Amino acid sequence: MALDKLSTGLSEHLEEMQALGIHKGKEHIITGVKPAESGNGRRYHIAGYADKEFLRMNSNSYLGLSFHPKVIAAEENAVRIFGTGPTAVRFISGTYQPHIRLENRLAQFHSREAGMIFSSAYSAVMGVLPSLISDATIVLSDSLNHNCIINSLRLARPAGKHIYKHLDLNDLERKLKECAGQCKRLLVVTDGIFSMRGDFAPLDKITAACAKYEDAFSEGIITIVDDSHGVGAFGQTGRGVEEYTKSRADILIATLGKALGVNGGYVVSDLKVIDYLRETAPFYIYSNPITPAEAEAALESINILDSQEGRELLEGLRRLTTYFETELVKLGYEIIKSEHPIIPVMIRNSQKTADLVHHLFTNGILVTGLNYPVVPKNNEEIRFQISADHTRQDIDYVLRVLEAFGAK
Ligand SMILES: Cc1ncc(COP(=O)(O)O)c(C=O)c1O
Repeated sequence: MALDKLSTGLSEHLEEMQALGIHKGKEHIITGVKPAESGNGRRYHIAGYADKEFLRMNSNSYLGLSFHPKVIAAEENAVRIFGTGPTAVRFISGTYQPHIRLENRLAQFHSREAGMIFSSAYSAVMGVLPSLISDATIVLSDSLNHNCIINSLRLARPAGKHIYKHLDLNDLERKLKECAGQCKRLLVVTDGIFSMRGDFAPLDKITAACAKYEDAFSEGIITIVDDSHGVGAFGQTGRGVEEYTKSRADILIATLGKALGVNGGYVVSDLKVIDYLRETAPFYIYSNPITPAEAEAALESINILDSQEGRELLEGLRRLTTYFETELVKLGYEIIKSEHPIIPVMIRNSQKTADLVHHLFTNGILVTGLNYPVVPKNNEEIRFQISADHTRQDIDYVLRVLEAFGAK
């Protein structure tokens, strides 16, 4: 009975979301994957669309590693040894050798003392931030930070929270100055790569600004970067925004579920910080880790990324990204240019965005349309994501379909 009454309220809320345009709607269900052939990359089948083939331009698997034979073999071998699930949380015999091997490898890859894995980057952020935010901590956060950062700050109880304008160093510095002497600990938290725009936090400049005010806080200024889209896709060797900006966060969080092609999240930092988080982060203590087989697969992905093959994949990814960007501009499309494989095509009109997403879908191309109010009015965009396993033929096909729409 109670659910009858509740469902009225839920329906109203859902209708409200629909009216506001923030309703995600029906999900496409992938029913099969067709291997690359005849110069085409992989194609996807979707429930309800018979044998139609779709080219995904909205996958986070920037290096195509989720189909890499060595990554698949690593997962298959481990699942036979350790079974399908961890069967307990870490401290209740849910810690397996692959978890430890992966944590050590991640720490080494990012030149840190220690690493710690979570079931996702979302839970890593939810676990790490509140644990480090005391009632004598103030937090400064970029206005376009990912939803997991926003929610982790809602879970925490800081002495103060200030949002600085997106990538605005003057605003950040003004706020650093205002907070000086107001608390013991200051946290500056930012995405590395921002997922909607493919732009990046100028970490070198952020850390330089923080250094100026460090003495005003008895427990220091701690920089925390979530570079989930950057690691494996940005920087000469795929070490993300830290590598690109030649700087370093105090605490780095990222995912195993995008460029690394597997699943899960992690944090790397000094040993003391990681020891503390293992004892205090509830999303780590009370929730299962990734499976041992996923850990082995992610370890294999890191090994590939950190090899000649990885550097070649990154090089190919950059080449395809630059080619797509250059040709889009020639076709008259406005883009936000960066070396990152997220390419936002700015449409700046809700109806046109919806029409173009539909046109692409009809032509077998999957993209992500971002309309108001998910993005501010006049910032409506279509997000394309390039992967190293796209072919030049795939990209040319997308360009032809875009050209045809432009001509209309
Ligand atoms: C900055 C950032 N953090 C975290 C996540 C979530 O990653 P995961 O799927 O591993 O939870 C995303 C994914 O969209 C992201 O862009």
